[in-house]
Amino acid sequence: MSRKKEVERLQSGDLARSNIARPFIRFEMKRPSGKHALEIKGLAKSYGEGTVIPPFTASITRGEKIGILGRNGAGKTTLIRSLIAGGPGAGDEPFNVDAGVAEWGHEVNIGYFPQDPRAWIQTGMTIFDWLQAYDPQAGNEELRGLLGQMLFARDEVFKPTDALSGGEVARLYFCRLFLQKPNVLVFDEPTNHLDLESINALNFALQKFEGTLFLVTHDHDLIEETATRIWNVGGGQVEDFRGGYEEFQKELSKRK
Ligand SMILES: Nc1ncnc2c1ncn2[C@@H]1O[C@H](COP(=O)(O)OP(=O)(O)O)[C@@H](O)[C@H]1O
Ligand SMILES: [Mg+2]
Repeated sequence: MSRKKEVERLQSGDLARSNIARPFIRFEMKRPSGKHALEIKGLAKSYGEGTVIPPFTASITRGEKIGILGRNGAGKTTLIRSLIAGGPGAGDEPFNVDAGVAEWGHEVNIGYFPQDPRAWIQTGMTIFDWLQAYDPQAGNEELRGLLGQMLFARDEVFKPTDALSGGEVARLYFCRLFLQKPNVLVFDEPTNHLDLESINALNFALQKFEGTLFLVTHDHDLIEETATRIWNVGGGQVEDFRGGYEEFQKELSKRK
């Protein structure tokens, strides 16, 4: 079955009768951002002699969903880190661009899913404590509910953070985003350690998300089904294509 059909099947609700445990992903926003989500002005980044991001300028409106393509080492993560450096809600990972600015709009709050989320999860505590530390105001029931949504049931919420699989790290990280309720999602290869059920749930959630999305992934189905605009990164360039993945592929084949 194609992934598209699978997602339609998920949406149709006929899975409710089946008893396989599936994660439930939904990204709600605390409040929407202003209409102008982001202005990028001449943003540039090089490592040594190698240009990774050229002076890049773009304007992003609330609700746009940008799929970011490019081979390994092309500069996708560098582009994302350049965008969110110092941005509201993205944490304070130090990162210096060479030139230019990324100006985030009114009331923007960024939910960042880094390529290596494990590095962002402190060891020596339980899953539950890590999540609670992010939002000490959240009640036990709420935290348990969110963890349950991501299939951490009963005593699993007391697993030590040191012993998590890649998939568990990703699922736990999503729980933190559920608490944060950002209106801009910046996701760097979120599906790398997810199983098919979780990927489908993520696909559905990203389609439904009402805020602005920046999504790096090698999963072309996911890009095709979510993206309204494509950034193709590579060779020291960022191509800004106004259209979805299918249109972009057509455009590429025209150029051959
Ligand atoms: N901290 C760094 N120091 C030096 N070079 C780096 C650093 N981070 C990334 N690079 C280089 O920048 C290029 C782009 O990397 P990256 O943005 O991680 O690519 P992608 O996310 O598309 O795989 C690569 O050639 C990589 O080796
Ligand atoms: Mg990367």
